[in-house]
Amino acid sequence: MATTSKVKTIGVLTSGGDAPGMNAAIRAAVRRGLQQGVQMKGILKGYDGLMNEEIIDMTARDVSDTIERGGTILYTARCAEMRTPEGQKRAAETCRKYGIDGLVVIGGDGSFAGAQKLAALGINTVGVPGTIDLDIACTEYTIGFDTAVNTAMEAIDKVRDTSTSHERCSIIEVMGRNAGYIALWCGIANGAEDILLPEKYDYDEQKIINNIIENRKKGKKHHIIINAEGIGHSTSMARRIEAATGIETRATILGHMQRGGSPTCKDRVYASIMGAYAVDLLIAGKSDRVVAYHNGEYVDYDIDEALSMKKTLPEYQWEIAKALSYNYNK
Ligand code: ADP
Ligand code: F6P
Repeated sequence: MATTSKVKTIGVLTSGGDAPGMNAAIRAAVRRGLQQGVQMKGILKGYDGLMNEEIIDMTARDVSDTIERGGTILYTARCAEMRTPEGQKRAAETCRKYGIDGLVVIGGDGSFAGAQKLAALGINTVGVPGTIDLDIACTEYTIGFDTAVNTAMEAIDKVRDTSTSHERCSIIEVMGRNAGYIALWCGIANGAEDILLPEKYDYDEQKIINNIIENRKKGKKHHIIINAEGIGHSTSMARRIEAATGIETRATILGHMQRGGSPTCKDRVYASIMGAYAVDLLIAGKSDRVVAYHNGEYVDYDIDEALSMKKTLPEYQWEIAKALSYNYNK
């Protein structure tokens, strides 16, 4: 199908932390663009690739066998230069040099801020939410969260088996530097006794200790504490809890394994729709937009509006998570 749009060449990049499903979004963007008669280019290593002109042509075949793969075939990076006006100018110049008149940026809020700067310099940009953290305010879905929480949930189930067998307490640290969504979801899904979220934790360790002692008196064999990375210090917390309770306590930091692996069906499907949607927006002559999922539909927002929105942890989910933690708050 030929295009009547002015956009002739669209570049795709992934930026910030990788997330399972990013490849599905890249694949969809490339194939949708080609189908619409647009030339597609891949930019390697996020904004670094724009600084260093690491740009490749992308054919439909180049994205074969990628939908089921974790990580990002375009690689990703955190590019300090992109935060400077000089770097942003350089990135825009590279786009012009390679005839890239539309850019799909798959990443989180930081990556969108870069896209916003490029749009101000005349490059048509659309952001696609890709982060395992679910911490983008304008959207109820971000690429990779579903896979990450399923990976973490399975790992926590395994830790729980051995924790129960040894009648231990386990602190399991999940990712999320500023946002507790992974911890909250795992807290509910794994039936954790305590859930520590950066948004909520009051640093009252004595309350946790009391909770463990009380549960043990009632015959509970294990005590699972899900701790978000933003709070961290799981190993020293384990030492203090063991000293105070006399119950063997171990810390397990799940780390980057949460960001890898084959994406779930949900991540493959949502990422595919969003990648294609981003290209459709550019072809329709739109720029400065962010693709989102809201109230059961794929939508798009102005990037300034998207970045000014604030996300707050859903209070009701938090209340229920606590209510379901055995003995919590009693
Ligand atoms: P995420 O996109 O997952 O939020 P980061 O916050 O690390 O991840 O941002 C990814 C990259 O986006 C940064 O390394 C930088 O290149 C670019 N970026 C972040 N913030 C800005 C900004 N304010 N202006 C321009 N570029 C930015
Ligand atoms: O991408 C999000 C995230 O995984 C956060 O949960 C975490 O704090 C951060 O990235 C870790 O990033 P890095 O790759 O630099 O270790």
